Amino acid sequence: EPTDAHVPGPRPPGGDRRRSKVAVVGAGAVGSTLAYACLVRGAAREVVLYDVDRARVEAEALDIAHGVAFTPMGTVDGSDDVEICRDADVVAITAGAKQKPGQSRLDLAGATIGIMRDLVPRLVAVAPEATVVMVANPVDVVTYAGLQISGLPATRFFGSGTVLDSSRLRYLVARECGVAVQNVHAYIAGEHGDSEVPLWSSAVIGAVPLLEWGRRTGAEGVLDRAVRERITEEVVSSAYRIIEGKGATNYAIGLAVTRIIEAVLRDERSILPVSTRLEDYLGISGVCLSVPCIVGKDGVLRRLEPDVSDDELAALRRSAEKVRAVSAQFGF
Ligand code: LAC
Repeated sequence: EPTDAHVPGPRPPGGDRRRSKVAVVGAGAVGSTLAYACLVRGAAREVVLYDVDRARVEAEALDIAHGVAFTPMGTVDGSDDVEICRDADVVAITAGAKQKPGQSRLDLAGATIGIMRDLVPRLVAVAPEATVVMVANPVDVVTYAGLQISGLPATRFFGSGTVLDSSRLRYLVARECGVAVQNVHAYIAGEHGDSEVPLWSSAVIGAVPLLEWGRRTGAEGVLDRAVRERITEEVVSSAYRIIEGKGATNYAIGLAVTRIIEAVLRDERSILPVSTRLEDYLGISGVCLSVPCIVGKDGVLRRLEPDVSDDELAALRRSAEKVRAVSAQFGF
């Protein structure tokens, strides 16, 4: 169960990266970009790609391998045999139905859950101790289903959730205010999808509450309600726009999942909005949604409850209902 008993304390020496192995399942645009990003950022010493399409997975692995002379020390390999995932420390599952122009992520639920019914048990068999990061969409529904199929504890089986959406939000706020994105601390919670919820009331820029930014900096109106609504719409529609233009999103999701993997392999105790099973969280239970969590070598160590406005809480509960209804449609 998510160990909410975990009380943040001194962090023992970071995870042992000498033996870190990441298995990326699915060598499509997202999976191959994720494998590439893991090597470029030196997130893991060993990166393997697994996909049923032998020609594709071997080609993607070879193309990345030809560049490892220019990355931090690391190796990459690819195979259509799940054996290549054996004893991985982290397994990232990107294999799933592909979102087509105009399709919502939730439309993919049936096809992707069907893939997981066969795939997840085979991955658990070769990497029973791994921390599993679900990326395939609709990630909240698929995480909830995959968790039950896997039999793993909810700490070690979670989804990439709204880590990507939150980085989109932070990018847009930083651009609006003319500050570094690293100093914008803002989370999107809820569904990784149309019902996601920007937590404006707890967001800060540097040490200034976001909702106070205009008044405190003299930049009146910079982040007023109309601007926040425009930013929210831009975040929610991002994937649709990119898919319309290039057929898929891959770079930002690859970097977002690499960030999660780093937090696990280095036992960072970073706070990331990953999709985790909620039980009695602000009155929400029995669903996977993204909330700010402490992420370390054992996965989701603790779910945090930020201060939320009444509107944000209501929106979060609507998001939970929407995701739960789709999960229930497929028997989870
Ligand atoms: C996106 C995909 C990963 O939001 O759902 O780009």
